[in-house]
Formats: sequence, C-alpha cells, structure tokens
Amino acid sequence: MEENLGCYAIELEDVSTYYYGEKRPAIRDITLRIPARVLVLIVGPNGAGKTTLLETILGLLRPRSGRVITLGYEIPRMASKARALSSYLPQDFMKSPAEPFTAREVVAMGLASNTPTGRLLEGNLRRVDHALKMLGMLEYADRPFGKLSGGQQQKVLLARAIAREPKLLLLDEPFSAIDQETRSYITSEIFPRLLENGCTILLVSHELNHSYMDADIVIRMVDGRIERVITRDVHAIH
Ligand SMILES: Nc1ncnc2c1ncn2[C@@H]1O[C@H](COP(=O)(O)OP(=O)(O)OP(=O)(O)O)[C@@H](O)[C@H]1O
Ligand SMILES: [Mg+2]
Repeated sequence: MEENLGCYAIELEDVSTYYYGEKRPAIRDITLRIPARVLVLIVGPNGAGKTTLLETILGLLRPRSGRVITLGYEIPRMASKARALSSYLPQDFMKSPAEPFTAREVVAMGLASNTPTGRLLEGNLRRVDHALKMLGMLEYADRPFGKLSGGQQQKVLLARAIAREPKLLLLDEPFSAIDQETRSYITSEIFPRLLENGCTILLVSHELNHSYMDADIVIRMVDGRIERVITRDVHAIH
C-alpha cells in the first residue's frame, strides 16, 4: 500500500473537538507536529483530553475546527486510509466473560480487517502467533479471551495491535493492568523494534513512570490544552 508519508507522522493545526451537545471543547486549539518513528508519551490528569486527542487523530471524532493530517492523509476525509495503517488500543478494553473468541482469534481479527475478503493468509497466521509469543501469551492462544485475566487480555490486545505491523500505534493506558516486568519488556524490547521498523508510537498514561524515560517527546495536557512539550533530540514540534 502507498504510504503517502510527509516528514511528519501527525500534524494538527488549531484543532478543537467538541462532543455532541457540549458547549466546552474537549480539546482546544491544539497545534502539534509529530515526526515519524518517535515514541510520544501523552500525560495529564483525568479529563485532560488525552483520549479525545487520539480519537481526533484517527478521525473517530470529527474536529469542529482546525486541520488534522495523519500519515499524510487528510482527516476525516481520508481517515479510512490512515486507519488501515494504524493500530489503536482503546482505554476500555475489558470484554465480557461470555466473549466467544479465543485469544488467537482476537489477534487474528486485527489482521482480517485489512484483507479484502477478511480471510487470513498462512503468513498472517504466523504473524499472529509471533505477536502472541512476543507478549508471552502463546500458551493462552486457544483459551477464550473473556476468561483471561485483565492483564492477560491487555497483552492479547497489544499483540493484536502489533501484529498489524502498523505505521502508527496509538495506545491509551495500555499498561493499566500489566505487571512491571512485562511493561519493562515492552518498553525496552518491543517499542524499539517497532520504531526501527518505521512505526510512530503515541502512548497515553497517567503516570510519568521511569520506564517511560525513553520517550522522545512528552506532551502534558491539562483542560483540553497542551500545557507543556518536552522533546529529546527530535525536531521540535509545537
Ligand atoms: N462521550 C463524551 N461526551 C461528552 N463529553 C465527553 C465525552 N467523553 C469525554 N468527554 C469530556 O471531554 C473531556 C476530555 O475527556 P477525555 O476522555 O479525552 O480525557 P482523558 O484525558 O482521556 O481522561 P482520562 O485520563 O480519565 O482517560 C472531559 O472533560 C470529558 O468530560
Ligand atoms: Mg482517556
């Protein structure tokens, strides 16, 4: 697929997004340029607009004003193209215990959505198992997803996001249920590999944990605005 990448993975200009019926914008006048292949950490208190920012970048929410370009595609007009190259792990991930699919099937679904017929090719199945293995979840591949623990479910969903080999990976509180050891493995082993392969990662978190110190850019949001941007050795944004 044609990538259509400019020099930035994400560009926002004066973007404000309102939820339906609300008088106050959830994010306001956001101007931001994120280069490709960087790890961006987005922090800030509850209600700061972190999730709204991610969903505006993907075109899941439509900004009332401003301009959004994601992976070179104008949002929301070309959002489906940008989304096909992206993986998004939403904040609320828990599935009901009655969820009928196995862990492997849940990961495979992430790939099926990008194939015209929705069918999985042999090579894709290998990708699925490779991603499960990376997250230490291969031995749970045939278990029903809904019967896994919260942390195990989160690992499976991370495996699904990674198996898609995205150009843009958006993770909203991905570690909330994941143990410290796995967290460190993901940030020190998996993220660098993704970045090397050209992926740009946006990670939302409440905490400024020491394991995030490898972030190239830290964005602090408060009350729908960007309060502070700290960059490390990357071309300035803001
Ligand atoms: N569906 C919705 N309808 C109306 N307002 C919403 C909706 N979702 C969020 N908001 C409001 O938009 C603002 C930003 O919310 P958002 O979910 O982006 O914050 P957040 O930084 O992700 O918070 P948290 O850390 O709790 O996940 C908040 O004021 C919130 O109340
Ligand atoms: Mg949120």
